[in-house]
Amino acid sequence: MSVKPVLISGIQPTGRLHLGNYLGALKNFVELQNSGKYQCYFFIADLHALTENPAAEDLRKNIYSLAADFLAVGLDPKKSIIFQQSQIKFLQDLKWILSTLTPVSELLRMTAFKEKVLQALKPSEREKITKEKFDEIVEQTNFGLIEYPVLMAADILMYDGQLVPVGNDQLQHLEFARTLVRKFNRKFGQTFIEPKALMTSTPRLMSLDDPSKKMSKSRPTGCLFIDDESKTIEEKIKSAVTDSGSEVRYDEKEKPGISNLLVIMSGLSGQPITAIEKEFAGANYGKFKQSLANLVSDHFAIFRKKKAALLQKPAGIKKIIDAGSKKAAKVAAKKIIEIKEKLGLQKI
Ligand code: ADP
Ligand code: TRP
Repeated sequence: MSVKPVLISGIQPTGRLHLGNYLGALKNFVELQNSGKYQCYFFIADLHALTENPAAEDLRKNIYSLAADFLAVGLDPKKSIIFQQSQIKFLQDLKWILSTLTPVSELLRMTAFKEKVLQALKPSEREKITKEKFDEIVEQTNFGLIEYPVLMAADILMYDGQLVPVGNDQLQHLEFARTLVRKFNRKFGQTFIEPKALMTSTPRLMSLDDPSKKMSKSRPTGCLFIDDESKTIEEKIKSAVTDSGSEVRYDEKEKPGISNLLVIMSGLSGQPITAIEKEFAGANYGKFKQSLANLVSDHFAIFRKKKAALLQKPAGIKKIIDAGSKKAAKVAAKKIIEIKEKLGLQKI
């Protein structure tokens, strides 16, 4: 039997999952898992979530909520290793090792990092920020936020991950992981595989309230959460920003709001956008939005029920995640020995 390529991805437990997380990542996790072509690992990136300094109670709740999302959406512990990042103790060793191969400048250049540290500024201030001011802000930033991509690379390389399903905001982090692999292998001999990103046809869904911005947990006002109740879904879609005119037509430049809604409909129904445009030719925005609200609500109806039921029994969730974490930890324990030997770090 040939060995299947390893596929791995994680999501931070930083709040409820939205349609961008679903169409850009989670939906794909389930399809890739069910294809049977990969050895799959999916994890709760709780250490990464710490970089936002959450209250312990919130983090605890979000970890359970994300675990329930994973299971309710169809990730299956019989088919995939589903685990909690913070339970893999050797991850810290690998992160440290990789950090010694990383120039600080590479980390400070990361777009996601810059966006995070500049988040508090107004867009106008952000655009004309001076080097001095940026450096001043960076000096106040927690080191975890700077190191974020090193930990992410460790997450992937620990299990010899080859394929990483993510949205396009993570591409730069993956490129960074690939650079680390080349550096390490050149210096210490073939040890890691260069991971590749796998994206869906919706790698960057935009916000409902401002289609020029990515739908993101850090801006909840523009999010449609996948566990939102039907009524909330309807209200949010009805008040989603649309464009002047009344034609339901895809045009990213002239009609970014309607185009984003078309992307959602296409992503959930599997219909091509052109077919949806045809279906709604002559209809107004109101009719299209109502139809989309029904689709979203129906699509997640079973998911909502399953998630609620899972959260009623947290002990069941814990059992599954504990078992997955043990499996992942075993793989990590083996890999770290190989890595340390390559470095000359074996026990004397
Ligand atoms: P957020 O940016 O909302 O905090 P995460 O960073 O936890 O979300 O992302 C989890 C996964 O969802 C990642 O693979 C990320 O690339 C993907 N993702 C996040 N936002 C979007 C979006 N708007 N469109 C497509 N994929 C997204
Ligand atoms: N940085 C990812 C995000 O914000 C989460 C993540 C952490 C991840 N480690 C990873 C994704 C490893 C893929 C592989 O979404």
